[in-house]
Amino acid sequence: MQVEALPSAVRSVVQSHRCGGRRVGVVPTMGALHVGHVSLMEAARRECDFVVTTIFVNPMQFGPNEDFECYPRTLEQDLQRCEAAGVDLVFTPDAAQMFPPDAESIVSLTGLTRKLEGRDRPGHFDGVTTVVAKLFNITLPHRAYFGQKDYQQQLVIRRMVSDLNWALEIVTCPIVREDDGLAMSSRNRYLSPADRERSLVLFRALSMAQQLAETGSESPDSISRQMQQLIGGVNGVDLVYSVVADCDTLEPLVETSERAVALIAARVGKTRLIDNQILRFR
Ligand code: PAF
Repeated sequence: MQVEALPSAVRSVVQSHRCGGRRVGVVPTMGALHVGHVSLMEAARRECDFVVTTIFVNPMQFGPNEDFECYPRTLEQDLQRCEAAGVDLVFTPDAAQMFPPDAESIVSLTGLTRKLEGRDRPGHFDGVTTVVAKLFNITLPHRAYFGQKDYQQQLVIRRMVSDLNWALEIVTCPIVREDDGLAMSSRNRYLSPADRERSLVLFRALSMAQQLAETGSESPDSISRQMQQLIGGVNGVDLVYSVVADCDTLEPLVETSERAVALIAARVGKTRLIDNQILRFR
């Protein structure tokens, strides 16, 4: 497995594989890799000839009071996980290479990014789309792999790829959960044992949402309210939003739909968690 920090080096390796007719898959990450990331790398390994993982804690997507400074950085372990998953090349740029002081360009979407996560974290998605655009231009993938856990993120990236006519395919892989239902996240390691226990209410609320949808007699609005009540009843969990929305537009649903997703964000102690579940209404 090759490890490269320079964009030019990565680009020339990938170019040579593309010229040889090989299909390139990329898994963009911020490191602190867990089993969820491994599932993305394994999917890329199954479906592509040459697999690139990028590890970069992107300062541009963190707000001023967010966890950029203390975001877990575990490069040695990350490289071991990449190697075990069969990754061919790991790109580990530093901030000066990704964002030189004279850089002026920002990739910014105007609709989807203003909702839910974007409303609570102003500027976050500009940071995501700008860095992902740069990572795509450096790693030249045929396919790029993202987790469904960041539901809005994968939607925003799909929109960007379509709007900008990028010749690549976005693959969204299922959420990977701990045995008790907690969605895998690099931020779970911030949780104290008590907060970890409290955070299970997110999965309970999403499971309840699915059960209510299956009854066929509950409106999306009623399901959203019941999720809010359940989460609001747990001390130490501060709900940011819980909503049943259209899968593509993220607009709250008024009527039941075949394209529905329940989305939750909450602060548990100091840790901000998100989770979601595609709903099947009867
Ligand atoms: O999902 C993440 O880890 C990040 O938002 C991404 C896509 C790697 C961009 O920094």
